[in-house]
Amino acid sequence: MENGNLPPATFKSKFTFYMGVCWIIAAFGGLMFGYDIGISGGVTAMDDFLKEFFPDVYERKLHAKEDNYCKYDNQLLQLFTSSLYLAALIASFAASRVCTIAGRKWTIRWASLLFIAGAGLTAGGINQIMLIFGRILFGFGVGFGNEAVPLFLSEVAPPQHRGAVNILFQLFVTIGILIANLVNYFASKKHPWGWRLSLAIAAAPALVLFLGSFYITETPTSLIERKKYEKGKAILKKIRGVEDVEPEFEQIVRASEVAEQVKHPFMKLMKRSSMPPLIIAILLQVFQQFTGINAIMFYAPVLFQTVGFGNDAALLSSVITGLVNVISTLVSVSLVDKVGRRVLLLEACVQMFITQSIIGGILQVHLKSYSNTLGHGQAILVVVLVCVYVMGFAWSWGPLGWLIPSETFPMETRTAGFAFAVSSNMLFTFLIAQAFLSLLCHLKAFIFFFFAGWIVVMGLFAFFLIPETKNVPIDLMVERVWKQHKFWKKFMDENDENEMKARR
Ligand code: BGC
Repeated sequence: MENGNLPPATFKSKFTFYMGVCWIIAAFGGLMFGYDIGISGGVTAMDDFLKEFFPDVYERKLHAKEDNYCKYDNQLLQLFTSSLYLAALIASFAASRVCTIAGRKWTIRWASLLFIAGAGLTAGGINQIMLIFGRILFGFGVGFGNEAVPLFLSEVAPPQHRGAVNILFQLFVTIGILIANLVNYFASKKHPWGWRLSLAIAAAPALVLFLGSFYITETPTSLIERKKYEKGKAILKKIRGVEDVEPEFEQIVRASEVAEQVKHPFMKLMKRSSMPPLIIAILLQVFQQFTGINAIMFYAPVLFQTVGFGNDAALLSSVITGLVNVISTLVSVSLVDKVGRRVLLLEACVQMFITQSIIGGILQVHLKSYSNTLGHGQAILVVVLVCVYVMGFAWSWGPLGWLIPSETFPMETRTAGFAFAVSSNMLFTFLIAQAFLSLLCHLKAFIFFFFAGWIVVMGLFAFFLIPETKNVPIDLMVERVWKQHKFWKKFMDENDENEMKARR
């Protein structure tokens, strides 16, 4: 399952200040996404917001004898959270074309503008239509940003640090979620307009990204793909901080020559030889959502209220999980290029399985639908277990769900293939967001066993079918990873042999 006995292909590079700044600016795309993930749960738990837009949910919430597991079950309220993901799903395919034709940088700029528009519309919203429409604009922004930013980071990073650089995206996602939780915590005290503040602040990271997009570089890959060879080489020198970039340049040019023969990337993706990265990209994202992470991220305040915390304590507990999320992602940044991707994925499955099962057990025994909430000690234990669970996710399936798809497609199918990763993320985030409160209402504590079961499935998948990609140059994946893998090499059929030759 390792990448064969081929010698390592390392290219020269030094860290440059300019490069560092580009990484950080691009990662603000992650902050936008994360802020949005974090903000909706808190906003939908705010009474002022509910009173104004979802009065029936507010009424039900007030009802003392309400079923613990069902008080937030309302399809329209869930649509407020999830409409963004449907929009992002559609946008990611358009973004893939923009990314190929206009480049990563332009796609990033568009992402920020769409997001700013979404913030304006939702923060100024006076009816449900404006809210949902604003969420759709947010969604377009996220679709464009999530397509372009991970690809940008993987393409500009030196191969030996690609994991760490790409995980800046996820790190900023987690920072965004944390900031959103903090903002919600304070905004919820500002009556009756706090929720507007929460939504308006979403424009801040987008503004940084927009202004930054005039400063950052285009990726050498994207320039060379668009035949801007001289510029591509000059940028490569600039970002690598060395003069001798010839071997890397040559390799990107070779990859672009192969890519050029492919006129219809989406059709090429349907070919057998494209299946290994495509299946892995899609399933990584599907599984990422079936860890149940967004049940926590979107609905942490709601969930913590369900187990017995008051409004404030619930928001505060979700700030704590947010902090754990950020710190654990930093662990991933420092480990991913050393221990590799597989170790992180597998270890986390064990950790997440155990914690989900115990949480399910506690709720099953102690939290009955119509009885009182958990005791204080038990509620604290649930928060601790949620934190350990989040830790596992944050150093594995969270970042690697984005990293691996961004580094395993050959150039000709990279933006199209990555669009499948983004859209699978969005589709399954949507399904979980839309279904979670109903699932919680119907499955009750069993929902945690449901997720635990999925974690076993994804662990087996990772063990047998996800190859190690650490340190492999992005445009040599076919040769060094797919053709060497016990199972996936069967997919590299003869028709594509010519392309392989061109690639060598
Ligand atoms: C996932 C999100 C999730 C976040 C949590 C991301 O990688 O795609 O759905 O909310 O991680 O940190």
